[in-house]
Amino acid sequence: MRFYPFRCWPKIGLLCLCLTLTIACGGGEKTFTRSKSTSGPVPESPHSLTFWGQTATPQRIILNLTTTPATSQAVTWRTVVPVAHPQAQIAPASGLSDFDKNARSVAADTETVTLDDGRMVAHHAVVFDALAPDTVYAYRVGATGAWSEWNQFTTASSKPAPFKFVTFGDPQEEVRSKCSRVFRAAYQHAPDADFWHFVGDLVDNGDRDAEWAELFDAFGWIPRTTPMIFLPGNHAYPNRRRVKPDAFRIFDLWRPHFTLPENGPAGLEETVYFLDYQGVRMVMLNGNEKLAEQALWLDRILSRNPQSWTIAAIHQPVYNTGKWRNRSTLQDLFVPIFDKYAVDLVLQGHDHTYSRTYKLRNGTRVGPDESGTVYVISVSGPKSYPVGPQHAALMEKSGTGRQLFQVIRVSQRHLEYEALDAAGTRYDAFVLKK
Ligand SMILES: [Fe+2]
Ligand SMILES: [Fe+2]
Repeated sequence: MRFYPFRCWPKIGLLCLCLTLTIACGGGEKTFTRSKSTSGPVPESPHSLTFWGQTATPQRIILNLTTTPATSQAVTWRTVVPVAHPQAQIAPASGLSDFDKNARSVAADTETVTLDDGRMVAHHAVVFDALAPDTVYAYRVGATGAWSEWNQFTTASSKPAPFKFVTFGDPQEEVRSKCSRVFRAAYQHAPDADFWHFVGDLVDNGDRDAEWAELFDAFGWIPRTTPMIFLPGNHAYPNRRRVKPDAFRIFDLWRPHFTLPENGPAGLEETVYFLDYQGVRMVMLNGNEKLAEQALWLDRILSRNPQSWTIAAIHQPVYNTGKWRNRSTLQDLFVPIFDKYAVDLVLQGHDHTYSRTYKLRNGTRVGPDESGTVYVISVSGPKSYPVGPQHAALMEKSGTGRQLFQVIRVSQRHLEYEALDAAGTRYDAFVLKK
């Protein structure tokens, strides 16, 4: 989500004005209706406001981590009709039913997007700030007459402390049909995960709104309570071979759906960034463009890294296992930096296989107690490729044809990694020690 203060309001305002004039003048064949006839305050039912049969109910509500997860939290949602004064409300959660009596309101930033079917929708975003660390908050999003339910999240601790997160390879295909079971299995296995993380290819065609609808359907209410962080795969971009170079840029639907950090290289906002979470530096890279700029940036941010653990993520693997694939460019650019700063773990997708290397340095296996990096490729969706032989000697575990998720538990001295399949069966595991 781009934060453009006031920039988008003229568009929304114009739409609201048009709606008002249409309603007031009785113009056109379409009519403005509320589901209930009211003469008092607008009822706060989520379905109470409709415009030409379309509801103003907030959709696709998703929490994203910020660069200060102990004291702030981002939330993004969309409406398929324009709404006046979109906002979010927040209050410390409690078991009391009047927990919301002192809720504070935060005005949303709004960005309009024209979909592939020509409809215009509005994406709204709020960053709650001045929060207390390690505290449960309740929040809702929407506007008068069209609120979401109250949801809850927990802020991070302000200092290193044990936590777990879940990470997923590409969902990409059959997302509603076959990825939802992976998401639900992951939630059942680790309902107290602090956040979820994805290494890209969320959908197959990142410019098709219907596929994003499937993704949010498959997530259910999980992103309303478990913050998520993402990086883009190649399917968030057009096919490089089918567009001119100046048209090769991330699809318009990526940024409006999320509110991700913007502390990466210029031009890669919300796709390349880092954040520190309770003793771990999480670094997202974008394997699709501006790789040399990212390498310079990566070297810089890792040279000033006070965290005990460093986890990097990139969609395209550094050591491929997918047949016919071998991206030496990524090895040349990033492995020297991963080695220089002893990055602990690199999470990847794209190959639609599972593979996990031994601990490596300079492309060579090192002992378990030596400084080195473990590289993981995984997949959560049903699309599978055969495992190629090109880096077989580096792999401690490889396979294909299985839908997986990974739970990572981090404490001061240990990083415990576990890969499980959609049936909840452990598929792989290892432990790193400091
Ligand atoms: Fe993929
Ligand atoms: Fe991919």
